[in-house]
Amino acid sequence: MKKYFVYLVMALTAVTFNACGDDDPVTEEPGTEQPGTPDAPAENPDEPDNPDNPDAPSGGSRILVAYFSWGGTTQRMAQQIVTLTGADLFRIEPATPYPEDYTECTEVALEERDTDARPAIKEEVGNWSGYDTVFIGCPVWWHTAPMIICTFAEGYDFAGKTVVPFCTYASTYRDETLARIVELTSGAEAHLDGLGLTGGRLNDESNVENWLREIGIIE
Ligand SMILES: Cc1cc2nc3c(=O)[nH]c(=O)nc-3n(C[C@H](O)[C@H](O)[C@H](O)COP(=O)(O)O)c2cc1C
Repeated sequence: MKKYFVYLVMALTAVTFNACGDDDPVTEEPGTEQPGTPDAPAENPDEPDNPDNPDAPSGGSRILVAYFSWGGTTQRMAQQIVTLTGADLFRIEPATPYPEDYTECTEVALEERDTDARPAIKEEVGNWSGYDTVFIGCPVWWHTAPMIICTFAEGYDFAGKTVVPFCTYASTYRDETLARIVELTSGAEAHLDGLGLTGGRLNDESNVENWLREIGIIE
C-alpha cells in the first residue's frame, strides 16, 4: 500500500524539474501504460543470475551492455540483450548501496536528483577502448535517469563509440529517460534508437529481439 502511495505522490509531483542539471522541461508522455506498481526488488539484487564483467572483455565482444538496476527489471532487459548479442555485461553498481526498502530508496533517489548528485560507482569498466558499441540502461527514476547514470556517462570517453540507450519504467517518462542518456553521451560518434519497456512487456522477449534487429545490431 505504501508503494502505491509513494507512486501516487510521484505522479502528483510530475512537475518540470532539472535532471542532472538539465533545463529542458519534461511533459507527461501520452500513450504509455497507466501507473502501476513498480517491480518488486529482486530477491537479492546484489547477486544477479549472470555474473557481470567488471574486467576486460572476456568473450572478445566489441559490444558492452552497461546497466544500473535497483529491483532487477533493467537487469533482466540487459541480460536479454546479452543473450541475443553475445555482448559483455557491466553492472553499474553504487559504491554505497541504495536502501532495499522501496520508500527509502525513492527518498534517496529524489534527494540525489534534486541536489544534482554524482553517486560513486563501485567498479570501472575494464578495457573501455575495446568496445565500439555501448548499450546504457537504467530504470526511470523520478521522471529521468538515476543520477548514477550521470556519474557513469561523465566517467568515460565516448568518442568513436555508438551508444544505444534502454530503460525500464512503470508508466511514464520513458522517452525523456532515453533522451537523457543520449544527451549525457553527446560525445559519442553515433546513437541508435533506444527502447524502453515496462516489466510486463519485458516478459515477451521478442520485444527486445525485434528492436535489436530494427537497429541493425542483430540480423
Ligand atoms: C526511486 C524510483 C523512482 C521511480 N520513478 C519512476 C517514474 O518517474 N516513472 C515511472 O514510470 N516509473 C518510475 N519508477 C519505477 C521504475 O522505473 C520501474 O519499476 C523500473 O522497471 C525498475 O527497474 P529496476 O527493477 O531495474 O530497478 C521508479 C522507481 C523507483 C525505485
